[in-house]
Amino acid sequence: MSDWDKLMTGVFGGSTLGSALHKSGQVLVNLGLIHHKNEWLPYWKDWLEWMSIGGWRRFGLYVWDQGPGMPGDWAGRFAPAFELIFHFNKQKRKPNKIVPCEGAGEVSHDRNAGGIRQVDGDVGGWTHAGQPIQDFKIPDSVIRIMRQKGSIGDGIDHPAVFPVALPQHFIEAFTDEDDICYEPFSGSGTSLIAAEQAGRKMYAMELAPEYCDVALERFRRKYPDVEIIHSQSGQSLDDLIKSRN
Ligand SMILES: C[S@@+](CC[C@H](N)C(=O)[O-])C[C@H]1O[C@@H](n2cnc3c(N)ncnc32)[C@H](O)[C@@H]1O
Repeated sequence: MSDWDKLMTGVFGGSTLGSALHKSGQVLVNLGLIHHKNEWLPYWKDWLEWMSIGGWRRFGLYVWDQGPGMPGDWAGRFAPAFELIFHFNKQKRKPNKIVPCEGAGEVSHDRNAGGIRQVDGDVGGWTHAGQPIQDFKIPDSVIRIMRQKGSIGDGIDHPAVFPVALPQHFIEAFTDEDDICYEPFSGSGTSLIAAEQAGRKMYAMELAPEYCDVALERFRRKYPDVEIIHSQSGQSLDDLIKSRN
């Protein structure tokens, strides 16, 4: 097993996906391309198989369009400008309609106009013929959100910061207000901020203590009124929560 597979099966195994996640939970994993010896690597292959054995269906695959590629010499390839988002589940959950529709309220298709061509070649009628365009729609499978630009704050940093809008997009699409989300690779705490902005609760995990400090400081600066509590050495999260109630 490669180190990467060990990391992923460790983080996504047992108590995380196995028991803590609600059966309707949706798992969204962002992965970028890696090249080695002049080829891009399907490094996720064995891990996908492992997920499938655990009952996690390869339900969706999305493209994160990060905006225009950066200038530079990309070793003979076009400038990278996208990453992938793998969507797993055991049970499907209808995404929330969170994207405003252009022309909301207008009636654009009359009952007799042709619609989209069907599998058998026939042009069927519009399903929503005669009805006004809805206010919000389900997000696209291409997510167009500009990559993080600039620093996250004076004196705090992380090498791979995402834009807050990216996790917020998925949180708002796949959870409701009382749901609890989980981010196993918290880094600088982008998903924690996204969850706060979306009005959701989130648990987050980060391996490197220095990035935990960055995430806490970043969160504190953005939400100075939110109380940050520290556990005693050796105190479990459960005990900490009980001690607060
Ligand atoms: C790609 S970064 C995530 C960055 C984050 N999206 C942000 O905007 O700051 C991945 C993070 O996962 C952490 N990490 C690596 N292995 C981990 C593990 N086994 N458990 C928890 N965190 C881990 C790394 O220290 C790193 O900060």
